[in-house]
Amino acid sequence: MCGIVGYIGHSERAQDVILDGLRRLEYRGYDSAGLAVLQDGKLRVVRTVGKLVNLESALRDVPLGGTIGIGHTRWATHGKPSEQNAHPHVAGTVAVIGNGIIENFHTLREELSGRGCEFKSDTDTEIISHLIDEQRKQGKGLLAAVRAAIQHLDGSYAIAVIDEEDPEEIVIAKNGGNPIIVGLGEGEQFVASDIPTILPYTRTVLILHDEEIGRIRREGVEITTFEGAPIARETRHIQWDPVQAEKGGYDRFMQKEIFEQPRAISDTIGPRLQNEDRIDLDEIELDPGFVRNLQGIQLVACGTAWHAGLLGRLLIERIARIRCDVDLASEFRYRDPLLTAEHMLIPISQSGETADTIGAMRHGMALGARSLAICNVHESTITREANSVFYTHAGPEIGVASSKCFTAQVVALHLIALELASLRGILTPDRLRDEIEALRRLPRLVEETLGLWSHVEAIARKYVNARDFLFLGRGYGFPVALEGALKLKELSYVHAEGYASGEMKHGPIALIDDGLPVVIVANQPSVYQKVISNAQEVRARGGAVIAVVEQGNRDASNHADDVIAVPAAPEAHGAVLATIPLQMLAYHIATMKGTDVDQPRNLAKSVTVE
Ligand code: G6P
Repeated sequence: MCGIVGYIGHSERAQDVILDGLRRLEYRGYDSAGLAVLQDGKLRVVRTVGKLVNLESALRDVPLGGTIGIGHTRWATHGKPSEQNAHPHVAGTVAVIGNGIIENFHTLREELSGRGCEFKSDTDTEIISHLIDEQRKQGKGLLAAVRAAIQHLDGSYAIAVIDEEDPEEIVIAKNGGNPIIVGLGEGEQFVASDIPTILPYTRTVLILHDEEIGRIRREGVEITTFEGAPIARETRHIQWDPVQAEKGGYDRFMQKEIFEQPRAISDTIGPRLQNEDRIDLDEIELDPGFVRNLQGIQLVACGTAWHAGLLGRLLIERIARIRCDVDLASEFRYRDPLLTAEHMLIPISQSGETADTIGAMRHGMALGARSLAICNVHESTITREANSVFYTHAGPEIGVASSKCFTAQVVALHLIALELASLRGILTPDRLRDEIEALRRLPRLVEETLGLWSHVEAIARKYVNARDFLFLGRGYGFPVALEGALKLKELSYVHAEGYASGEMKHGPIALIDDGLPVVIVANQPSVYQKVISNAQEVRARGGAVIAVVEQGNRDASNHADDVIAVPAAPEAHGAVLATIPLQMLAYHIATMKGTDVDQPRNLAKSVTVE
């Protein structure tokens, strides 16, 4: 995920402060970096591919002196990692760095090309620099030009802009899930994507909210809405210790990781969805002949990753029409599996070190299957031994119970299903386009779903003393129910069972009694009526129903004690969206009970023994 840094002050240390900040943002992952400094009134830009040492060594030869500048680490979304695609992007006298995704990128690019604009990169951020430049040429000052330019953008972004013609300020803007903050100093100000980046310089910060613009000058900061109405934002004094700093201001790593999900998903899909009509998955080296002759796909995983696998099976069978099995890795070897060289084996593992998953992968490969691992950790055992790897770019996951890696694994499986279907020639170009468009919208819907935090907290308070919970779902909702129950068990030590809702009558219904909370995953239109009839059966026996439904559903409140509404989306994405409030429910109940959310008792992040 990209990182933003900016500096404006009196001493000529823009370059050093920016490089230092970029180093602190390295943890987010990146593939290129760059900075722009105003030196003697002129924009000077240096960009390099690869790690920061490359940028540092380029600057060692020609250091940039200046009191104002912006810098960026880029994780490719639109266009491959290259010097041209690295930020800042310059148009006219303006330099722009940006995080996020501009959804109407193609339309804007065509419009700008039609007006004679020439593009030097494949990025969506370059569009922004041209839009601002156009406004500057109409005589607007930098702030007014940025305000006018962003009216054209749809998407989620954070940007920082400097301009030769307006050399006394940095303008920043934010919309959607990309944080940007300002650190306030004495006669100097700092801009960054997160608070820890600026903590060595100042502990006084201003946080920009959605649809806000900031003008940063040496003597102070003005914040306004996109429409220009002034905002009196209070500064925050940060008193974190180093560990809190790593948590980026969240109380616990797990909370941070829940909130990082829009970014984990967009980083995982971004580099693979740079085109509207095809998926870029050359990295997994699938031979079209092998895919056409596939006899079946075998998924193996443990814990939360197994739940991702259950969703993956539905995706692969529905989209690619290939028979797909999913096994608990610990069971796989003991059923004498029927794999051959015409099978593909997909081990799914956040850590790449889970002993059972490694064992299952080795066993399947020994039978001749080709392995394609889904993993979040480079150089882990699974990635070294697999024939090919699809990396989820969720960033480090510290909380023992998995959250952002689960959602990243689901979108990874979705992309693989689409790639398999394309290679088998069973996806029409229109369907593929629709799927790509929907996947690109997902991070934004996840962002919106995060707004349920306080609502779910209130629901958690109602049920915090329940001794047991039941979670029910059907179709894509079934793995979500399993994951919701697992999260609650792991974090809060409350007994919870996840069931396919159709199985309720075959056993769990005996447990229902006064006040037993039953969470029903009911945001899947194709099975809604069936799932809701289970809700009625629960209530008829005195149970309390918490229903996760699509926004706009007016029926569920007749059958549920509490309703959690997530954005409407295609059903596979609905599974991702429904999982998020269930992560929150587990988190809130656990914090209310005072358990150790990040390191629950007896659990380990990587289970390296069988
Ligand atoms: C442990 C963790 C879970 C994780 C599972 C599989 O049980 O606590 O959060 O889902 O291992 O781990 P993996 O690294 O293979 O995804």
